[in-house]
Amino acid sequence: MKTVQEIKVLKSALSNARSAFSRVGLVPTMGALHRGHLALIQAAKSQCDFVIASIFVNPIQFNQPSDFENYPQTLEDDLKVLEGQGVDMVFMPSIKEMYPSSLGVSLSFSHLEKILEGKFRPGHFNGVGIVVAKLLHLVDPHVAFFGQKDLQQVHVIKALVVGLSFDVEVEVVPTVREDDGLAFSSRNIRLGKVEREKAPHLYEALVQAEQDLKTGQPWSHVKNSCRKSLENSGLVELEYLALVRLPEFRLSEKYEANSEFALCIAAYLGGVRLIDNVIIRPTS
Ligand code: PAF
Repeated sequence: MKTVQEIKVLKSALSNARSAFSRVGLVPTMGALHRGHLALIQAAKSQCDFVIASIFVNPIQFNQPSDFENYPQTLEDDLKVLEGQGVDMVFMPSIKEMYPSSLGVSLSFSHLEKILEGKFRPGHFNGVGIVVAKLLHLVDPHVAFFGQKDLQQVHVIKALVVGLSFDVEVEVVPTVREDDGLAFSSRNIRLGKVEREKAPHLYEALVQAEQDLKTGQPWSHVKNSCRKSLENSGLVELEYLALVRLPEFRLSEKYEANSEFALCIAAYLGGVRLIDNVIIRPTS
């Protein structure tokens, strides 16, 4: 497995990759790899004959400096994992390499910027959009892999790809969960013992809400009982719980069984912010 830190080395190593391989796959990550990332790598390995992963903790997508400073960094272990999975190349640039001077561009993503993650994390999607655009531009993969757990991010990236005409497929890999339902996240290791025990309630609440919607209960009622059950479990710092119509990713106040929706949640557990979602497929 080749590791590359400099853009110019990356470009020369990949100069004929797109013609030499029938499918080049990119798995962008911020490191601190867990089983969710493994699913992305395995999907890439099964679909591509050349797989490149990136590890870059992107400072400009963190709206809180403390979140950036506390972001887990486990580079040595990450490289072992990637090597073990048969990844061909890892791009792991420094901040200076990616952002040699102050940024003179910004991106905005219309309504996606104003709701849920966009609303509660101002500037986050600008940072994600810029780094993903840079990676797509530098690697020029046939396909790039992202996790369903960051569902709004997936929609931002799809908007980026269409809006800037990147010649890449966006592959969305289902969320990987612990046995108790908690979605794998690099932030989980920052949960204290009590918070870790409570964390699966997020997913349980989503599953219950999905069932209630499917039995015909109105969203306003489902939302209230979901809030109450989270409060009763001691999980009070709910940031949002939303019904989202897909594929537009627009907030909705009404569920319809013949359309696709997602239920999205964000909550703080002892200062650690977790997000999760479930997709509700149309029944007819
Ligand atoms: O999902 C992530 O880990 C990050 O947002 C990404 C896509 C690697 C961009 O930094």
